[in-house]
Amino acid sequence: MLIDIIAGARPNFIKIAPIIEAIETQQKDGVNIHYRLVHTGQHYDKKMSGDFFDQLNIPAPHHNLEAGSGTQAEQTGKIMMGYERLLMEKPCDLCIVVGDVTSTMACSIAAKKMNNIKVAHVEGGIRSGDWTMPEEINRIVTDAITDYFFTTSEVANNNLRNAGVKNDKIFFVGNTMIDTLYKQMPRLQKPDKWDKYELKDKGYIIMTLHRPANVDNKEKLKELITEIINSSKGLPLIFPVHPRTAKMLETIGIDAGNLHVIEPLGYLEFNYLVKNAKAVITDSGGITEEATVMGVPCMTLRDSTERPETCTIGTNELLGTDPKSIPPAFDQLFSGKWKKGSIPELWDGKTAQRIVKHIVELFGLN
Ligand code: UD1
Ligand code: UDP
Repeated sequence: MLIDIIAGARPNFIKIAPIIEAIETQQKDGVNIHYRLVHTGQHYDKKMSGDFFDQLNIPAPHHNLEAGSGTQAEQTGKIMMGYERLLMEKPCDLCIVVGDVTSTMACSIAAKKMNNIKVAHVEGGIRSGDWTMPEEINRIVTDAITDYFFTTSEVANNNLRNAGVKNDKIFFVGNTMIDTLYKQMPRLQKPDKWDKYELKDKGYIIMTLHRPANVDNKEKLKELITEIINSSKGLPLIFPVHPRTAKMLETIGIDAGNLHVIEPLGYLEFNYLVKNAKAVITDSGGITEEATVMGVPCMTLRDSTERPETCTIGTNELLGTDPKSIPPAFDQLFSGKWKKGSIPELWDGKTAQRIVKHIVELFGLN
């Protein structure tokens, strides 16, 4: 059996690493299961792509579609055309897509339209309800043509059931991003910035921003960062900047003694900083999950989340995107009354093994 594993953007690399490892374990046990790793090229900078392959020991991709950046339609089109060509040369039996990026949707469509190749969606069923986000469209479209849903939560299962998906297509397995976190926890690395900025345990804040709604508008981005600086009581703010945000940040020229704008960090350095931070402030999806598992207070600058369990069970709080919501959240943090949180069901580091076990059974490989 040949499985295509699709990865295109930073969070994808973190989610596929344990799936590849679980497939290789089955291979060693003599199971007839093979994979082809397809990098779409959506992210291409070393700091957004190559470094993750090195740090997480992900094998080099068998194919790189080199789609690169572009508008939503350009990027979708380039990825679909590249992947379709590959499938025409050699089709696979199952296409595994992860998460909610454009590569996820584009490859699922190309596979499904190519002789009805089966599609498995890891992290299927999550919904923010916000149709202005490209990711929500990607989720809805991908799930509309998915054969096997590997889900992270009961909420996702219910979203799928409410959309008419039959129970026998839904596999509640947990979270592969958290598999990677548990595996890498002993290897997390203190970044060189630690000494440079004289950081202390629980004595700084780590922040990331990359959602179009927060960073594509110059004034909005400036207001948010200004409010964070004003609320932070001078604690160092470590801000590894996504390339999308970097472009805009250059034009607004914010300067504050405690704001440290740096390049995107490697996985091991970034999560070292999250683990030891007083708090995280972000608009990322994956980081809210990692903060939850590490028990670190997390403030999310978004109006909605497709990961409600990070708020209901974990340490995450949705502040919205109005800068006015930032000072009261910092007050809560500094008062020491931030909720403690616990770890969602099945986020236990064994999700990829469950996924591959299901695939082995579904395809009669054992
Ligand atoms: C994408 C995903 C988002 C995910 C994020 C993870 C979609 C619709 N969005 O957003 O869900 O949270 O990745 O980081 O798929 N760029 C570079 N170098 C790179 C990659 C991007 O400079 O290696 C710049 C380009 O100017 C590009 C812009 O960043 O136009 C945006 O990249 P893109 O992949 O379109 O979306 P992201 O904002 O990264
Ligand atoms: N991450 C990283 N370095 C950084 C910022 C993020 O390694 O400088 C990791 C983070 O630990 C998480 C993933 O990238 O595993 C999240 O990716 P991102 O926020 O870009 O995307 P999202 O999860 O919002 O789709």
